[in-house]
Amino acid sequence: MERRTIGAGALGVGAVGLGCMPMSWAYSGSRQRGEASLRTVHAALDQGTTLLDTADMYGPFTNELLVGRVLKERRGEAFVSTKCGLLVGDQHIVANGRPGYVRRACDASLRRLQTDTIDLYQLHRADPEVPIEETWGAMADLVTAGKVRALGLCAVGARARRRTGGGLHDTTIRQLERVQQVFPVAAVEAELSVWSPEALEALLPWCAARGVGFLAAMPLGNGFLTGTLTPGQGFEPDDVRARHPRFTAEMMAANQPLVVGLRRVAARHGATPAQVALAWVLAQGPQVVPIPGAKRERWARENAGAAGVRLTARDLAEIAALPPAQGSWD
Ligand SMILES: NC(=O)c1ccc[n+]([C@@H]2O[C@H](COP(=O)([O-])OP(=O)(O)OC[C@H]3O[C@@H](n4cnc5c(N)ncnc54)[C@H](OP(=O)(O)O)[C@@H]3O)[C@@H](O)[C@H]2O)c1
Repeated sequence: MERRTIGAGALGVGAVGLGCMPMSWAYSGSRQRGEASLRTVHAALDQGTTLLDTADMYGPFTNELLVGRVLKERRGEAFVSTKCGLLVGDQHIVANGRPGYVRRACDASLRRLQTDTIDLYQLHRADPEVPIEETWGAMADLVTAGKVRALGLCAVGARARRRTGGGLHDTTIRQLERVQQVFPVAAVEAELSVWSPEALEALLPWCAARGVGFLAAMPLGNGFLTGTLTPGQGFEPDDVRARHPRFTAEMMAANQPLVVGLRRVAARHGATPAQVALAWVLAQGPQVVPIPGAKRERWARENAGAAGVRLTARDLAEIAALPPAQGSWD
């Protein structure tokens, strides 16, 4: 698989990563997978994927334990990205950016992951009660202590701030400018896909200008862009798509032209719509690494194959001309 480098520290990873979240969180059936999920992670590594994206809150904790079982056997082949800063409570998910908490969270992640070093440690969400410089300073100390190789910031929740005015990622960019004064940002993790291209406006250019890597979360539009979901199929209550405005029967039907367009391009390449959706993400810049989520071994292999799909100018123009997605979180 093609390799990509992220961050000024030039960390090398396989061009297509693996989002491990659906194996333990946010998607129905995630908690019953066990050994099948292990096989999915192994299958991704077998294909040349190296970046495994997890977080302490996925499960909570069980996703890191799962990834740790693989790392115990294949640490040298993997690049592990995990996150701190969000705590799962009985009713709510709360942010915690206090330095003491960050230190304890890192030690706990290292134990669960069965490793001495986390390749990329990301702040999942900033804590509004703690200046981000304090949180980031504690994370920087972990690099100095050799527990972490590089730091990243997640910007996935940023879409909820659209209503406050300004651009979608204005808040994130302000946070990035602040933490850069404390310690370099190696990577930003934010949503980027054919149906959610907003990061192309300001966030990705910000990263590109500074040599900051970009981990593209939800690159398959939570599965919609793969063309394997049917309008009206319904989702279990524990599946994030049961509450997602783009996954109502009406919106899934309205957004079918996106799938049709991806299918048309895919046919020219002997590829699948999922592979074209990921190849489109890869085409957005040399520092961009999609992290498609998958529970199934079959999907992990297929998604890794997207690294070999090179979209032409005609393909990219056709995808750019597709109608914008309807329905949003706002
Ligand atoms: N930092 C953050 O706050 C944040 C937020 C969201 C996500 N993320 C990261 O981004 C990663 C990706 O996001 P995501 O998993 O939510 O969304 P995604 O990658 O857009 O889509 C995942 C869904 O697509 C399905 N799928 C994957 N490959 C497929 C294929 N080739 N054909 C058909 N279906 C396929 C999966 O099905 P199965 O589950 O059945 O395999 C899963 O339901 C996560 O795993 C996580 O690591 C980070």
